[in-house]
Amino acid sequence: EMPNMALDGLFVALLLSFGTTVALDPIPRITWEPRDVHLVRFQEPGVSNYSALLLGSGDDTLYIGAREAIFAVNSLNIADKQHEVRWRVTEDKKAKCAEKGKSKETECLNYIRVLQFLNSTVLYVCGTNAFQPTCDHLLLKTFELVGKNEDGKGRCPFDPAQSYTSVMVDGELYSGTSYNFLGSEPIISRNSPQSPLRTEYAIPWLNEPSFVYADVIRKNPNGTDGEDDKIYFFFTEVSVEYEFFGKSMIPRIARVCKGDQGGLRTLQKKWTSFLKARLACSLLENNSLFNVINDVFILRAPDLKEPVFYAVFTPQWNNVGLSAVCAYNMSLVEDVFSKGKYMQSATVEQSHTKWVRYSGEVPKPRPGACINNEAKAANYSSSLNLPDKTLQFVKDHPLMDDSVVPISNRPRLIKRDVNYTQIVVDRIQALDKTVYDVMFISTDRGALHKAVSADSGMHIIEETQLFPGSEPVQTLLLSAEPVKAEPAQAQVLPGWGRGGAGRGWEGRGWALPSAMAVLQAASARPQEQPRGLLSRLGVGFSDGPQLNSAAAMLPERRSGGSSGTVNGGLVCPAPPSLPAIQEAH
Ligand SMILES: *[C@@H]1O[C@H](CO)[C@@H](O)[C@H](O)[C@H]1NC(C)=O
Ligand SMILES: *[C@@H]1O[C@H](CO)[C@@H](O)[C@H](O)[C@H]1NC(C)=O
Ligand SMILES: *[C@@H]1O[C@H](CO)[C@@H](O)[C@H](O)[C@H]1NC(C)=O
Ligand SMILES: *[C@@H]1O[C@H](CO)[C@@H](O)[C@H](O)[C@H]1NC(C)=O
Ligand SMILES: *[C@@H]1O[C@H](CO)[C@@H](O)[C@H](O)[C@H]1NC(C)=O
Ligand SMILES: *[C@@H]1O[C@H](CO)[C@@H](O)[C@H](O)[C@H]1NC(C)=O
Ligand SMILES: *[C@@H]1O[C@H](CO)[C@@H](O)[C@H](O)[C@H]1NC(C)=O
Repeated sequence: EMPNMALDGLFVALLLSFGTTVALDPIPRITWEPRDVHLVRFQEPGVSNYSALLLGSGDDTLYIGAREAIFAVNSLNIADKQHEVRWRVTEDKKAKCAEKGKSKETECLNYIRVLQFLNSTVLYVCGTNAFQPTCDHLLLKTFELVGKNEDGKGRCPFDPAQSYTSVMVDGELYSGTSYNFLGSEPIISRNSPQSPLRTEYAIPWLNEPSFVYADVIRKNPNGTDGEDDKIYFFFTEVSVEYEFFGKSMIPRIARVCKGDQGGLRTLQKKWTSFLKARLACSLLENNSLFNVINDVFILRAPDLKEPVFYAVFTPQWNNVGLSAVCAYNMSLVEDVFSKGKYMQSATVEQSHTKWVRYSGEVPKPRPGACINNEAKAANYSSSLNLPDKTLQFVKDHPLMDDSVVPISNRPRLIKRDVNYTQIVVDRIQALDKTVYDVMFISTDRGALHKAVSADSGMHIIEETQLFPGSEPVQTLLLSAEPVKAEPAQAQVLPGWGRGGAGRGWEGRGWALPSAMAVLQAASARPQEQPRGLLSRLGVGFSDGPQLNSAAAMLPERRSGGSSGTVNGGLVCPAPPSLPAIQEAH
């Protein structure tokens, strides 16, 4: 373990050199206790592990995948259950699983891990099914499982304790999970009848990854270079290129092209477009201080030229509780993959392998590139006719030497004494037309931070203790639609104070902004009964005189930092000027 002192020393050094440029350890302006928060809970007797959440599109439905059950609830009031279906493990499967040394009471059950729209009428669902992952179709009209009994290997983990991520793209499921009973064979795969593809089972491709997130970034519809849609995966894995104290973790972004068909001989039924790079989130250029990625949110907005993604990180040795948020520009990510240098392994001292920058000749077409107009012009109409030289190169060099660096080359936010778990970001226009990226970041102790970036730096404008028991927040979802609320309900919601603005602001009275967060916590304490605790938090804005929005959005820090309502929870005085957040330097 890295000694506590060393990390402290490093942090102090960072403070000294960068204290004026980054919001280091900002203190929340307002703190709300659980009694100030109007929590709505959904809990089904006997059902635990509510681990897969999916928001319906435009129909106010939230789908919940739990242990041996799937639910549909009203997303505006999650206590209002609309449908449920049970999906239990058969006794036979349970017995087989127990024979292999797994626990009948916990592991040999069906944990729902994949919950995705196949189309508007069918959900694609997969569960661990007593270490025999299985997928099925859920008909939304009747809320019945079809009973397809598809082999879920490569789409859903065997072991419910293992990490997983998936995204449905045009009816094909892309997953990051493990492929075997032991959980020792990691895989990024595409489940497609026409062209199923997977990663090579080799350390340079995936090295004990912990999957966090996956999503598709569509090609620019007006692009002239014939680029492809790309699927991005985010995970932490064991580094091959850095060696510090034993296993050193590293955060990664990997991508594949949607049009990939695999190779003809080399890389047959394997990705020809799999490339990965390090995600840098540190103050010092090459210091892997924040080397565990916990969550990613891809922010898309009509006024953003390209998507921007936000990620929360913690250090591998986090005994001090340190977290960071970094934001990245998608075009920079693409540049690393399309123009960056590759890494290669070199054997030194007999069997020891070292990874270094590859500076030799790179074959053409460029290894790992999508089939674009340029490739087509050279008669490579599909990955199936790429030359062996290109394919062999990408097989041996899936790792880029260049890292993906955050916007402005530094974290947006660094916070001490918290472990951030999840993030969602909403882009909101204030009354003065200034656009803010409002970050909602949750912690492993049941709190939610609301932070905005202003000219003076990053400010945590609110801390809300959502869960009285300090359970970790495991899932945060942002609804696409603005949420309207009854005035009575909004009264008990914490507010941003006077003059706040948001898309959901509705004339007189109260409204909730577009930022509805759906949160999930699992009991952190084993002695407690497992309880499904799901809650919804609306964060209110108030009506009122139009004040300078930046000031109004950043209410004065209350003396003592204590909780409670600010003038009855509705209005808080705007400070004459923003107290600057300055750190030691
Ligand atoms: C949805 O997918 C199912 C299964 O592939 C198919 O039977 C059904 O026709 C599809 N429905 C729509 C509306 O496309
Ligand atoms: C299921 O929930 C229980 C109680 O909250 C927790 O202890 C356990 O780790 C969870 N299991 C999985 C596989 O998530
Ligand atoms: C594509 O072109 C159309 C029409 O010129 C324009 O409205 C749209 O914003 C463009 N889309 C992108 C992503 O550039
Ligand atoms: C860190 O950066 C310095 C200078 O930029 C370089 O000499 C050194 O090799 C880097 N260290 C690592 C571990 O990348
Ligand atoms: C992303 O990077 C490109 C190139 O550096 C730049 O033009 C663009 O403004 C950046 N976008 C954002 C949102 O920072
Ligand atoms: C591509 O193939 C066509 C037809 O087989 C041939 O005429 C053309 O010369 C080829 N182009 C290149 C760049 O190899
Ligand atoms: C953060 O996580 C670490 C390791 O998981 C733990 O030791 C520490 O107590 C946590 N700190 C806080 C403030 O939650």
